[in-house]
Amino acid sequence: MIHEINFVLNGEEVSCTVSARRLLIHVLRDDLGLRGPKIGCDTGHCGACTIRYNGVTIKSCMMLAVQADGAEIETVESLASDGELSPLQEAFHEHHALQCGYCTSGMLMSSEFLLERNPSPSDEEIREGISGNICRCTGYMHIVEAVRDASKAGRRVEA
Ligand code: FES
Ligand code: FES
Repeated sequence: MIHEINFVLNGEEVSCTVSARRLLIHVLRDDLGLRGPKIGCDTGHCGACTIRYNGVTIKSCMMLAVQADGAEIETVESLASDGELSPLQEAFHEHHALQCGYCTSGMLMSSEFLLERNPSPSDEEIREGISGNICRCTGYMHIVEAVRDASKAGRRVEA
């Protein structure tokens, strides 16, 4: 069965037709051309497909596209603005917090969500915040350092 869905994607209204069984990650990547969110497992384990759904992070391989109808969706493509990386993206770059980059969009979305709720997380809280995201390359240390540094940068901007 085919459904028409309408939602806000990175601030723009979009509509598309999807079959009832289609996963949101596949519609985002294959129908709407957003290749930031990745598919690592398609079973809710790796976090590579992490996006925001009505303000909270979700794994978009665990959601049917029809459930996006009427929602606000944000992907990693929403983080940079006017060609400028966000402070967190800059911190990932500066701290070499990625190698193959496959986990990175999910890591960024989870870390942004953490910093929004907790602007000064401890290392333990950072690790907890990214615990739903698996990285097979970095050993996590550089990712934790990047998030820690971005949290300090945020404090400098607010000061
Ligand atoms: S692709 Fe969604 S959690 Fe791995
Ligand atoms: S940088 Fe390769 S999986 Fe994280």
